[in-house]
Amino acid sequence: MLIAGNWKMHKGPEETAHFCRRLREHARPSDVDVVVCPPSVSLATAVQVLAGTDVAVAAQNVHWDDEGAFTGEVSAPMLRELGVYGAIVGHSERRQHFGETDESVARRARAALEAGLSVIACVGESGAAREAGETEDVLRRQVSVLERDENLVVAYEPVWAIGTGKTATPELAQEAHAFIKTLLDVPVLYGGSVKPDNAAELLGQPDVDGALVGGASLEVDSFLAICRAATRS
Ligand code: PGA
Repeated sequence: MLIAGNWKMHKGPEETAHFCRRLREHARPSDVDVVVCPPSVSLATAVQVLAGTDVAVAAQNVHWDDEGAFTGEVSAPMLRELGVYGAIVGHSERRQHFGETDESVARRARAALEAGLSVIACVGESGAAREAGETEDVLRRQVSVLERDENLVVAYEPVWAIGTGKTATPELAQEAHAFIKTLLDVPVLYGGSVKPDNAAELLGQPDVDGALVGGASLEVDSFLAICRAATRS
């Protein structure tokens, strides 16, 4: 079971240090893998404060080249140098607002894995695609560009459930996760309005192997409550 907190564009270094110190104090050893994903400017702080704990730190994006003329991007070797464990790629907000495509997601994932980072690759259908009965087509297209790797996990994040408070029902999540696993044999996390009060039911589904948590990962208490729900699942 893996619980990853995607902070998105929240928490500079100071807030990150505060959060990670509290996490370090309150996190209990368990068989759940816990990851926090701060913005790039706060990665070094998170790595430093969480050193010696079981909590890993991942970036929210990573470029496919080692270095070069790519303003605003960060490479896998740079993340490795910081002591970062992995990276999210293909989040729907990047696909929606920053022109990320299935091809660029695939390139980012491949380069990160080759550099020794773990990767959380996000997939998920929009509300319109689900209503049109195209969920499986979208997932097939997004997953088809990824290759199996022991350090790759997929996060199923239905776009209509992200930050909306509309969580997929556990049955619907289970169905999508089982479908994704017929395409690619990797662990699949669920993401989209995961909260302390719905986590146990979602994480209790047989093909839900963890969660990628946005809003509810910004407070230590709610993030830890989700981690505890994972321990019991
Ligand atoms: P949310 O975000 O939990 O705030 O819906 C999830 C995500 O985008 O990873």
